[in-house]
Amino acid sequence: MVVLEDVEPCRQAVRESQQQGGIVGLVPTMGALHEAHLLLIRTARKRCSYVAVTIFVNPTQFGPNEDFDKYPRTLETDLSACEAAGVDLVFTPSVETMYPAGSQTNIHVSGVTEGLCGAWRPGHFDGVATVVAKLFNILPADLAFFGEKDYQQMVVIRRMARDLNIPTVIVPCPTVREADGLAMSSRNAYLSAEERKQAASLSRALFAARKSIQTGEYDAAKITGAIRKEILAAGPVDIEYVDIVNADTLEVVKSVDRPVRICLAVRIGPCRLIDNVAAGAGK
Ligand code: PAF
Repeated sequence: MVVLEDVEPCRQAVRESQQQGGIVGLVPTMGALHEAHLLLIRTARKRCSYVAVTIFVNPTQFGPNEDFDKYPRTLETDLSACEAAGVDLVFTPSVETMYPAGSQTNIHVSGVTEGLCGAWRPGHFDGVATVVAKLFNILPADLAFFGEKDYQQMVVIRRMARDLNIPTVIVPCPTVREADGLAMSSRNAYLSAEERKQAASLSRALFAARKSIQTGEYDAAKITGAIRKEILAAGPVDIEYVDIVNADTLEVVKSVDRPVRICLAVRIGPCRLIDNVAAGAGK
């Protein structure tokens, strides 16, 4: 496994692998790797002959009052995990390498960024789209793997890749959950034992909502109302949004008459947690 901090050797490694007929897979991360990242890496390992992981805590996707400074940074452990998972290349650029002085270009994807987290984190998806486009240029992989826990992020990146004719194919991978259903996230480490218990209500409420759709409830307002009730019953938390959206366009639906995604964001203690499940049309 090679660990690279500069752009040119990354391009060269990808080019060489592709010239030899290899399929290159890319797993972009911000580090603090856990089981959900390892699933992305393992999936990439199965489908690709060369696997590159990027570890970069991207400042441009954090708002002024968000946790950029205290975001967990565990590079040594991350590199060992990558090595053990059979990764070929890890790119760990500095902020100066990714954003050299004088950078003036920003990518804005409209439409799919407007609702859900986009409404609560202004500029967040510009930061994500810009850094991911740069990573796709630095490591022009054949396939790139993203977790469905960040469903809106995956849709935004897929839209951006289509709109900018980026040939990398976006591969969504299922959410990995703790034993009690909590979606795995690097930010779960911020939760106290009591908050951790409350956090389990999020997936419980989402699974119950999916079940109610399977048994004939299609009224989105009734379904989201039941989700809010279940989460609030678990303790004093701050619900940012609970929305049922069209799975492709992310437009809010009133009735579940097509494939949808039930999405939510909730603040529990110091943590902003997001989760979602697929529902509708036989799911
Ligand atoms: O999901 C993440 O970890 C980040 O948003 C990503 C895609 C690596 C971009 O910084």
